[in-house]
This record gives sequence, structure tokens and C-alpha cells, in this order.
Amino acid sequence: MMHKVKVLFFSSLLFVSFLFVGESCKHENLPYINGDSICFERDILPIFVSNCAMTGCHDANTRAEGYDLSNYTSIMRRGIKPGDPTNSKTWEVIDDGSMPPRTNMTSLQKSYIKTWIAAGAKNGINCFVGCDSNVFTYSAGVSKIMSQCTGCHSGTNASGRIDLSNAAGVKSIALSGRLVGSVKQLSGFVSMPPYGSPKLSDCQITQIQKWINNGCKND
Ligand code: HEC
Repeated sequence: MMHKVKVLFFSSLLFVSFLFVGESCKHENLPYINGDSICFERDILPIFVSNCAMTGCHDANTRAEGYDLSNYTSIMRRGIKPGDPTNSKTWEVIDDGSMPPRTNMTSLQKSYIKTWIAAGAKNGINCFVGCDSNVFTYSAGVSKIMSQCTGCHSGTNASGRIDLSNAAGVKSIALSGRLVGSVKQLSGFVSMPPYGSPKLSDCQITQIQKWINNGCKND
């Protein structure tokens, strides 16, 4: 009798520990980011705008499920509990992979959002954008800028059928003149990035311009 109880006890212990292991596997290990160094407008807003605030989803007009994720005030209106990511609905759905529905955020983007909430979900504007206008290769310059565009501009449903996730895609829109027109926000072009995201810095625009002048290489 005693033996049976023991076996039962230990096997249920094993089962419970399996449950815990299974549970922890669902959460990926996110890269470390220092919460103090995060600046909302530079690091967080572009992730929301590019992955969530598209037309028909969480932009100011559609507000799917009541969530407008296109600016700081409305992002804070629901789903964010400053200091407490695990009780923040907006983080929960990103963490469990149910949002965004068609793409996946990178683990770096996830870490930015989680760390930003944990550090108090503060607003931050006029952030310093580390940029060197003498760096204008695709890999070290242009692709870094485009990473805030690919949430909309990649894959089969790419906005405007413009794919900015590889050098060839960026090249074809660049040669049409529309890339520079849209990031300089000239009249006659749709301003990019959209929905009140800050304009690219002059330095970033210079990087793009120099890359184009240098032949749009995949370098
Ligand atoms: C939230 C989604 C979203 C993000 C983020 C975004 N775009 Fe767009 N972009 C669109 C949509 C939608 C269109 C099509 C607009 C239209 O045709 O009315 C578009 C159009 C464009 C066009 C064509 C403009 C024209 O006048 O013909 C260019 C070029 C472009 N985007 C570049 C970029 C760049 C570069 C970035 C990043 C700095 C960016 N986009 C970020 C959604 C986005």
C-alpha cells in the first residue's frame, strides 16, 4: 500500500514537472535589452506601426477589437500595464504568437516591447538616432532602415506590392524615384513611414540617397 502511494506521488511529481517544462518551452529566450536605453518613438512605435497599425487592423480608423496602435496615447489606452508585461494584454498576445496574425515579430522586437513595458512603458520623443551618413552599404545602412518598413512591405501581401525585405526589392522601388520621394515626404508621393511615425532622419535619408547614387548594390 505504502509503495503504491509512493509510486503515485512520484509519478504525479514527474507529470507536474513535465507540465512546467512544457510551459517554459512556449516562451522563447529573448535577447537582453537595457530598459533605460529604450526610447519609445525610435524603438517601439515603429514596431507597432509596421506590424499592427495597418489599414484594416489596429490603425486609428479600424481599431480592430478596440485597439488603435498607431500612437503613444492610444497604445497606452488599453492592453498595457506599465511595469507589468505579463498582465498586459498587448504583450500577452504577442508573446503567445497570436498577434500579429500573419507575420512573426523577431525575438529582438519582442524583447523591445516586453522590456519597454517592464521599464514603465514611458513615452520618449526626439530620440537620438545613431546614424553615420558615411555608411551606405545595403547590409550596414539601408537594410537597417528598411527593417522598420518590412512589417508592411514584405511577403505576399506586401503593401503597394512593394517588397523592401531584400536589396533587389529596394532597388526596384528606388530606381522608380518613389523611395526617395516617399521618405522625403515630397508632394505627389505617399509619405513613408505612414500614420504619424516620425520621418526618417536627414542622416538616414542621406544614407539611402548615397546607396542609390552608388548603384543600389547588394553590398
Ligand atoms: C504600416 C504599414 C507601412 C509601413 C510601416 C510602411 N509603409 Fe510604405 N506603404 C504602405 C502602404 C499601404 C502603401 C501604399 C499606399 C498607397 O498606394 O496609397 C505604401 C507605399 C509606399 C511607397 C510608394 C509611395 C508612392 O508614392 O508611390 C513607398 C516607396 C514606400 N511605401 C516605402 C516605405 C518605406 C521606405 C517605409 C519605411 C521607412 C515604409 N514604406 C513603411 C504601408 C506602409
